[in-house]
Amino acid sequence: MEKLVSLAKRRGFIFQSSEIYGGINGFWDYGPVGVELRNNIKNFWWERMVRLRDDVVGVDTSIICHPQTWVASGHLASFSDPMVDCKVCKGRFRADHLESIPCLQKPSLSVHACAQEKKGPGELTEVRQFNLMFETYVGALRDDSSRAYLRPETCQSIFTQFKNVQIVSRQKIPFGIAQIGKSFRNEITPRNFIFRSREFEQMEMEFFVRPEESEMQKWYEYWVETRYQWFLDLGIKPEKLHKRTHAQDELAHYAKGCVDVEYEFPFGFSELEGIANRSNYDLSQHSKTSGKDLSYFDEETKEKFIPAVIETSLGVDRTLLTVLADAYAEDEVEGETRVVMRFSPRVAPFKAAVFPLSRKLAEPAMRLEKELRRHYVTDYDDVGSIGKRYRRHDEIGTPFCVTYDFQSEEDKQVTVRDRDTLKQDRIAMDQLEKYLEDRLKFQV
Ligand code: GAP
Repeated sequence: MEKLVSLAKRRGFIFQSSEIYGGINGFWDYGPVGVELRNNIKNFWWERMVRLRDDVVGVDTSIICHPQTWVASGHLASFSDPMVDCKVCKGRFRADHLESIPCLQKPSLSVHACAQEKKGPGELTEVRQFNLMFETYVGALRDDSSRAYLRPETCQSIFTQFKNVQIVSRQKIPFGIAQIGKSFRNEITPRNFIFRSREFEQMEMEFFVRPEESEMQKWYEYWVETRYQWFLDLGIKPEKLHKRTHAQDELAHYAKGCVDVEYEFPFGFSELEGIANRSNYDLSQHSKTSGKDLSYFDEETKEKFIPAVIETSLGVDRTLLTVLADAYAEDEVEGETRVVMRFSPRVAPFKAAVFPLSRKLAEPAMRLEKELRRHYVTDYDDVGSIGKRYRRHDEIGTPFCVTYDFQSEEDKQVTVRDRDTLKQDRIAMDQLEKYLEDRLKFQV
């Protein structure tokens, strides 16, 4: 994990937010390479979940919504985590994570172990509930009437806009509404780099179905398999992924089932995505609280009902951490250890980089890179030796490096080096785009 965090900073994937002021815990900034990787992940999700489907449409809703939303969803009353204070180190911790959180005074020990070692577990205060929603005020007044919240999940406004979206998209049940957007949770102990942060992005899809048990089960199983396959198509190693079915006592009172897709991070198997059968609780709650009818009329059967929903919900940042952890590799090249990010071409931030052998060749090399740029995200790099440039691009996972040398002036060919096999091919410049296209091909 330390190696990943250090590489992420060194190569411009991820920086600590507000670093020059000492940072702010639970917030991260994505650098030039990180933002490309992030966009590729989001685009792949959108492509598979919305663009290539007939039965899912997209929305982009506001982060702050009417506070009654959170009354209806239950977040205001119970979106909380158990919290304790340590009377010795004055830290404040999530009570259900004490065995894995390092003590502030003695980081080699967990808070739990530290409390036992000092004066016993009595040094921790009683457990109390801490609501995770960030509060703000809308308008110039600061009182209870203007209090609002940054959304802790993106799905609630999919429910509140269900009727509008269904009417304008002319979708018939079963159909889904998808959204990618920021969510905020005032996590008591943000940790494990970007795995648990206070500001993060979610990719959520709510699939509305008839509320009969057999319909809910059919679509629930379909989405569990479809979402699992998405991670495999993203290039994640199958041996590092698994599904975990929630036990009955882990489920919310209204839920009929939930499966987590988990990845084996350096800190153990942890949740990436949840696929949940939420019954028709959400639309019923918003209908009740708003007084607006959110039922659906089936033109064919002439029935009116409140649809049930199968939800698929994952974090962009957690997926990005998975992609980073999964791609990280070290091997030996010419007697030296090389760090290489073996990203699938689908997500690699740059698909190719063009190097002039000497700065004297800058002009034609730039011209070549500008030509490739029309087809792929590419980089032009003329700093340091060719070996150093290879190392730099191995560390950001660029699948192909193209060197323009003095011979290229004569024979109109360039050397293309493969990140993974290290094989070098001499390719005619007018065939380069085709050569890359064949090798970067990935199934849509
Ligand atoms: N609408 C359902 C929902 O929000 P969740 O399990 O609380 O369910 C879904 O969150 C996903 O959002 C998680 O599987 C995870 O990928 C991501 N996520 C949740 N909290 C997060 C946090 N504090 N930091 C980063 N990602 C988070």
